[in-house]
Amino acid sequence: MTSPVTYETEGEIALIRIDNPPVNAAGQAVRAGLEQALARFAEGPEKIAVLYAGGRTFIAGADITEFGKPPQPPGLPQVCDLLEAQEKPMVCVIHGTALGGGLEVALGCHYRVMLQGARVGLPEVTLGILPGAGGTQRLPRLIGLLPAAEIITSARQVPAAEALELGIVDALSAEEPRAAGLAFARDLLAQGAGPRRIGEMPNPEVDADGVAALREKVARANPGQVAQLTALDAAVRGAPMTLPEGLNEERRLFMTLMDSPQRGALIHAFFGERKVAQLPELKGVQPRPLAQIGVIGGGTMGGGIAAACLLSGLSVVLIERDAEAVARARAGIEKTLAGSVKRGKLKAEKRDTLLVDMLVTSEDYAALGQADLIIEAVFESMEVKKEVFAQLDAVAKPGAVLATNTSYLDVNEIAASINRPADVLGLHFFSPAHIMRLLEIVDADKTAPEVLATGFALAKALKKVPVRAGVCDGFIGNRILRVFRLSADHMVLAGASPYQIDRALTGFGFAMGPYAVADLAGLDIGYMTRQRLRPIKDPRERWGEWPDRLHEMGRLGRKTGRGYYIYDDETPNGRPDPEVDQMIAAERAAQGITPRDFSDEEIIERYMAAMINEAAKVVGEGIARRPLDVDMVFLFGYGFPRWRGGPLYYADHIGLDRVLSTIQQAAQDDAWFWQPAPLLQKLVDEGRGFDSLNG
Ligand code: 3HC
Ligand code: NAI
Repeated sequence: MTSPVTYETEGEIALIRIDNPPVNAAGQAVRAGLEQALARFAEGPEKIAVLYAGGRTFIAGADITEFGKPPQPPGLPQVCDLLEAQEKPMVCVIHGTALGGGLEVALGCHYRVMLQGARVGLPEVTLGILPGAGGTQRLPRLIGLLPAAEIITSARQVPAAEALELGIVDALSAEEPRAAGLAFARDLLAQGAGPRRIGEMPNPEVDADGVAALREKVARANPGQVAQLTALDAAVRGAPMTLPEGLNEERRLFMTLMDSPQRGALIHAFFGERKVAQLPELKGVQPRPLAQIGVIGGGTMGGGIAAACLLSGLSVVLIERDAEAVARARAGIEKTLAGSVKRGKLKAEKRDTLLVDMLVTSEDYAALGQADLIIEAVFESMEVKKEVFAQLDAVAKPGAVLATNTSYLDVNEIAASINRPADVLGLHFFSPAHIMRLLEIVDADKTAPEVLATGFALAKALKKVPVRAGVCDGFIGNRILRVFRLSADHMVLAGASPYQIDRALTGFGFAMGPYAVADLAGLDIGYMTRQRLRPIKDPRERWGEWPDRLHEMGRLGRKTGRGYYIYDDETPNGRPDPEVDQMIAAERAAQGITPRDFSDEEIIERYMAAMINEAAKVVGEGIARRPLDVDMVFLFGYGFPRWRGGPLYYADHIGLDRVLSTIQQAAQDDAWFWQPAPLLQKLVDEGRGFDSLNG
């Protein structure tokens, strides 16, 4: 096998080049190749060496696929030490992104040149680990403890100009990597410069107050997570040590994180995010073009979808019902884009171009004649949706993809109502649509493969995480949501309080508990769902009536100042309401329920069991392709803590037999609600986990 590392000479300069597509990850072959190249350089007549990479980026880090497997020598820390130990100067050229082990390799070198537009960073904490090849030791020695610790704990990518200013790199270049390296090396030769080792630089100063303030900030920003604070410890502890001592301490802490369950969960999330977009049936299927997007309805979702498309450079034609609604929709989009400008995500001039040249708003459906893909986001009513689709059938050009953003309605029924059902699919965005990364792509019975592929292509253009879903009430996410929400309402009737449930679940790692979320979204959403399902509800299914009473009292959540919580100037983020407790107590009394105590552990156990059980049904029925698809839905659409990997990853982690026994125990209270999913039962019988189905 040819090595991914090659060696050539140009006069007195050695050029060491890495080619390991797609992202030049520092896998075993790269590390061994570097070791060999360095041996040749050490013995050869060349006076200076340039290390650079081919392809789209410098090293993007250690090879993550090697994690959890027996280590293959040489290790990356050894390679970095070897680079640093060279007796002749080593120059590194950074293009694309030098991340994690990539930046650590660069820090092992004596000089660094960075191409304009490139970025550097240490994103290890997002994978539940810390920079383990010298990053926590060399970066603080190079740029100071606090700036380095901020980069390490935030995992942010530092742009070239800032990297130069901070002193991470010595120069910027507008040339290609090879030419940039040669030019810099020639200058060094002319100056007679020798090696310049970070390991020989003075120890960084420790500003104890600054460290304490950073620690507090990092802890607040990453509740429940271990990697960020451990990485900070590595940098702080190593600061007064010699480099070898510091590297040992870094290694020791690195190994503790390698063994932590959070590492496994975060790496599952990293690969899941990429794998979820890969469907075997779409291999080689060409998506249809996507230049102009039509949006019907400019309310919460239509406006957000239009903004998302504009922000990704797609032109948009938006249709509303009348002139007034058109004006309201345009104003809404303007406000969203103004927010992007304010947050520094969009330049003001670019915003103006988008609004003038890329957005057409109209009340005339004929304006949709050239749209390649049209997304309907009108009221959640089958009748209204069918009317809209009939009009689309009349005006859309042949081959246009016709999508519905429905939350619950039957996409097959919508498709069957027009003459081109193969062009129809569901594109279920989440609110706010220009921010939330999840996009459920609903594959209806007659959806053509290239139409499905076009849905995935749109997701890619919008930088969303696309998850294929089959047709059912609520698709993947909302179907499962309904069930675990009910489990929470059941616990409330049995004796828990909504506030205790929210507290227990934020303690678990959710950004918000279910009742706080409901207040944010509006209690009308749950009310309308219950109204819709009431006629078809099985008489054995138990619902609390008190949430409907809240709705009838006009308590719609944050927007009315009262919902499950009270929101006012004193408590803008809500405070418990004794009146709600009284309503619950009254319903318990009416139903003859004697309330009992719930521990936070039991709340989490039941809530998660309800979520996992319905998720297993969703996978078993083929609504979700793989368990990882469900995990991605929850990570990117429902605020599930990423460091727990998603509900089915978490289920494997705690053990499926334990989940099943929670379900069986809860079934003693309500056998109708707690019917074990056949797939869960089967996996337990076979002693397998959900991961065995991820392929
Ligand atoms: N190891 C193994 N595979 C990797 C990888 C890595 N470090 N980084 C990316 N890949 C794979 C992806 O899984 C993907 O594979 P696929 O095509 O089979 O799905 C392929 O490379 C392309 O990746 P992306 O789709 O993400 O490509 P982009 O161009 O969108 O992004 C990137 C490029 C910004 C480099 C992005 O891939 C990235 O962020 N990679 C991870 C960076 C990282 O976390 N590095 C730290 C690693 S840990 C470490 O270095 C430990 C050290 O301290 C000891
Ligand atoms: P909304 O009420 O904010 O907006 C609907 C808009 O559609 C209104 O502006 C209305 O004027 C317009 N409209 C109605 N009939 C029309 C027609 N015939 N032609 C043109 N425009 C018409 O509703 P929202 O929240 O944006 O929901 C829209 C759809 O998105 C629904 O199907 C909903 O279930 C779904 N959805 C909503 C989410 C949310 O969080 N609000 C999340 C995901 C999906």
